[in-house]
Amino acid sequence: MKAIYLDHAATTPVHPKVAEAMTESLQKNFGNPSSIHSFGRKARQILDKARSVAAQSIHASDKDIVFTSGGTEADNIAITGVALANQAKGKHIITTKIEHHATLHTVENLEKQGFEVTYLDVNEHGEVELQQLKNALRDDTILVTVMMVNNETGVIQPIAAIGELLEEHQTYFHTDAVQAYGMLPIKVGELKVDLLTVSSHKINGPKGLGFLYVHPGVTLQALQHGGEQERKRRPGTENVAAIAGFTEAIQLALTEREQRYQEYQDYRDRFLQMLRDQGIDFSINGEKSERVPNIINVSFPGTNVEALLTNFDLSGVAASSGSACTAGSVEPSHVLSAMFTENSSCTTNSIRFSFGLANNQENVTEAAEKVAKIVTRLTT
Ligand SMILES: Cc1ncc(COP(=O)(O)O)c(C=O)c1O
Repeated sequence: MKAIYLDHAATTPVHPKVAEAMTESLQKNFGNPSSIHSFGRKARQILDKARSVAAQSIHASDKDIVFTSGGTEADNIAITGVALANQAKGKHIITTKIEHHATLHTVENLEKQGFEVTYLDVNEHGEVELQQLKNALRDDTILVTVMMVNNETGVIQPIAAIGELLEEHQTYFHTDAVQAYGMLPIKVGELKVDLLTVSSHKINGPKGLGFLYVHPGVTLQALQHGGEQERKRRPGTENVAAIAGFTEAIQLALTEREQRYQEYQDYRDRFLQMLRDQGIDFSINGEKSERVPNIINVSFPGTNVEALLTNFDLSGVAASSGSACTAGSVEPSHVLSAMFTENSSCTTNSIRFSFGLANNQENVTEAAEKVAKIVTRLTT
């Protein structure tokens, strides 16, 4: 039995061209980009190209890109780096209840250091409401951090409208775009964001790599101390081979973006239609909101997450109950808990299916058949 992967929001398979670029770099370009000799210069060229490709992908300048060890580190540098460097202007931070733990645990850590954090609610559609943000803004707010696309529901947040709202305020605006990047076109200038997080392994690149966009006007305190790399904002010898792979992944994600968008939308629609055709009772969390096509969060009344995931896994379907970092825990998802009332069964019977490179019409069809069978068995 070949397992079917429907968990691309957790991580994605490395694209063959990415693996090729990484292998070539590992074998041919082992130099340290900081060395001035020819070996170093070759590695530096890979890094320079990557920076330029990353910058162009979000319509930024090369010097605004800071390579990091992934989305988590980029979120940490953005949030803690801004907080520590700007505390003389205020110690108030605004975020939402549905952020990834890379954000939530970072702001919680700042609370222990005397910062005050406001956690915005979301409505039952999974969206942040501008009025709440307006009400929460204070003169001493120094950072607003709101994710672009939620990793559990795929719901798109009103980032451009938030950017507009914050334009005249002293606060910096950070967005975690990990689940948006590669699906939605991103122009940092139009969105009016000051900081933006991207992760490589969500777009068929290697794990342990990402970047943070930092607007030139942002004052940021580095969290690591060492060499001059990344203009001292993230010192440490760069992972050149992974960066070579990431460059390829970004280029592929950009050139194939519209095609992928359509393809994943087709997979999603086919999957849901098949469940409907089999008479499965389900609802989609965040259905009324704008969502990316590759993530759906489905509630199956009369079931529970543990039984569903175990049975899916036994039948060779890999899905998730939400954030991969908390999968395996029986705690209801913090995202769904923020969307629904405390005793709503949606928080304990919902599964995230996410589509991507490992899918095709055949395996999506097969997965839907298996899912329908299991849900029928568990509910009758
Ligand atoms: C929205 C979001 N932010 C941040 C991260 C963390 O990224 P990384 O795994 O590269 O550290 C993830 C990964 O699940 C995510 O989905």
